[in-house]
Amino acid sequence: MRIDEFEFTKIAGAILSALLLIFGTKTIIEMNVGHGAFKPGFTLPAPSEGGGAEAPGGAAPAAAETPEEAAKKIVALLPKANAENGKATFKKCASCHVAEKDKKATVGPNLWDVVNRKRASFPGFAYSDAMKAKGGEWSFEELAKFIHSPKTYIPGTKMVFAGLSSDTDEADLLAYLATLADTPVPLPK
Ligand code: HEC
Repeated sequence: MRIDEFEFTKIAGAILSALLLIFGTKTIIEMNVGHGAFKPGFTLPAPSEGGGAEAPGGAAPAAAETPEEAAKKIVALLPKANAENGKATFKKCASCHVAEKDKKATVGPNLWDVVNRKRASFPGFAYSDAMKAKGGEWSFEELAKFIHSPKTYIPGTKMVFAGLSSDTDEADLLAYLATLADTPVPLPK
């Protein structure tokens, strides 16, 4: 029995449609579901009741809460913070900051040894006037306030970052920063 050309075309067509269906569906599923690890390239600031105006590209997260209030909660989470999780959160900072010993500043100052460092003191980095004027040191609490909401805590900073909305993530991040030093800074007990 011979398969004539018409028959062959029909069979080939059927096979192609089946393949298309299988791979098409697979692609659509993958596009939607991702690999479980899908993360948006940036975090949209949480909607805020207060209108929380000034940060470019959106209001600061949890604008209802002052940086001071948030920092108290974050510091209270430090004894149980997880530096390993903090390392993952640091990816949000790594687009602008290196945090390795003896590396030059990039968009932002090098964050190696930043815990308890004097504010605005990384050699050769051109800090904003607002940052230079603030004075003091980067204690855990100061870091918590700033990273929670950079523009609210230091209006005029040139760090263009909306802030972290999760207190737990921020505590974990601080625990990670504390490890980045010749002598890691102990977390409060
Ligand atoms: C879009 C770029 C950008 C991102 C993202 C960013 N930063 Fe910054 N950061 C800067 C710049 C620029 C400065 C200098 C700010 C100034 O002079 O006002 C800075 C300053 C700082 C300082 C002050 C350091 C010092 O030497 O006084 C700390 C601490 C800091 N950033 C932590 C972080 C952390 C933690 C993250 C992630 C959660 C982060 N930054 C994300 C750009 C960025």
